[in-house]
Amino acid sequence: MKKIKVAVNGYGVIGKRVADAVQLQEDMELVGVCDVIFDWRIKIALRKNYPVYAFDINFQKQMMENNITTEGTLAELIKISDIIVDCTPKKIAAQNIELYKKAGLKFIVQGGEKHETTGHSFSAENNYATALGLQSTRVVSCNTTSIVRTLTALKNAGLLGKARGTLLRRAVDPWESHLNGIMNTLVPEQDIPSHQGPDAQTVDPSLDVLTVAVKVPETLSHLHYWNVQLTKKATKEEVLAAFGTSSRTAFIDYADGLTANNTVKELMLSLNRPYGDMYEVALWQDMLKVVGDELFYAYLVDNQAIVIPETIDAIRALTGLETKAENSIRKTNESLGIRREGFI
Ligand SMILES: NC(=O)c1ccc[n+]([C@@H]2O[C@H](COP(=O)([O-])OP(=O)(O)OC[C@H]3O[C@@H](n4cnc5c(N)ncnc54)[C@H](O)[C@@H]3O)[C@@H](O)[C@H]2O)c1
Repeated sequence: MKKIKVAVNGYGVIGKRVADAVQLQEDMELVGVCDVIFDWRIKIALRKNYPVYAFDINFQKQMMENNITTEGTLAELIKISDIIVDCTPKKIAAQNIELYKKAGLKFIVQGGEKHETTGHSFSAENNYATALGLQSTRVVSCNTTSIVRTLTALKNAGLLGKARGTLLRRAVDPWESHLNGIMNTLVPEQDIPSHQGPDAQTVDPSLDVLTVAVKVPETLSHLHYWNVQLTKKATKEEVLAAFGTSSRTAFIDYADGLTANNTVKELMLSLNRPYGDMYEVALWQDMLKVVGDELFYAYLVDNQAIVIPETIDAIRALTGLETKAENSIRKTNESLGIRREGFI
């Protein structure tokens, strides 16, 4: 089978996970990872035998001086790739896309970039088909991915009226908590709505969704509370059946001891997930409540992990490796250990 050659630019929190996930796909080959760093983080890539590239000759020189063996620069990596996933920090990817466009290379950016950088925003269970054969797309952010994923399930079941959510956002990525975390406070976002609601509409403009957000002093995951006006009176069973159609939404229960985000993190570690990652939205089944035509529920989002399966599907959609969403989603889910039956 001909494998699609995938490059990853930016080997940070998201990039290193994307690289590992690409390695697991039978229809993809990781041709290289590119970065500007020369400390332990990129040494891990070498240890995994990933070909390492530097952004340009200046960074290549710095890497060489620090005993990091490089295969070349980004320009050279671009030449041997079919598609590149740009996982560099917010706003840097937007500067790189001219290089990709000039080379006629397909590319994916992450949620830190604006919708306008690609003109298409991606979430597999909602709009895979519209990304088929495009030159580029943006995999929406962690929070937005969870919103689109869950609301799409309600929409497809004909239940979604309007959705209003409160997002408790983790303060910072765990590995950077010594730098700019917050402590002993809660930091509400000044603007209502927060950007995640409008961002979900870049994937699906039909979603009537509004969000508010507050930053909280922990690093494990985001926690969302939702209040949905349903299109009609419904039973709890009907709503659970709707969420159950999303293969990447998994139910958790208080009754099973999963009463907080640290216990869910421990579950992921106990399952031997890489980095303790949770690709699914973990939605509390026994907490969920339907009152007439109103629905209330809460779920957890692992910000570092949820976009990884989406990125793998976006690679298949852009390159046309799979024309049907369900085939790509199934392959990705199997490779990452995402099970229809849930976590256990
Ligand atoms: N961290 C998350 O939880 C999360 C979740 C969803 C989406 N995202 C999005 O993913 C993207 C990447 O975020 P991240 O958290 O992985 O960032 P990160 O800072 O952890 O990693 C970025 C990597 O890119 C490297 N880099 C910087 N400039 C570069 C350049 N010019 N060329 C090559 N490499 C360069 C950095 O050295 C670093 O290793 C952003 O758009 C972000 O908004 C992040």
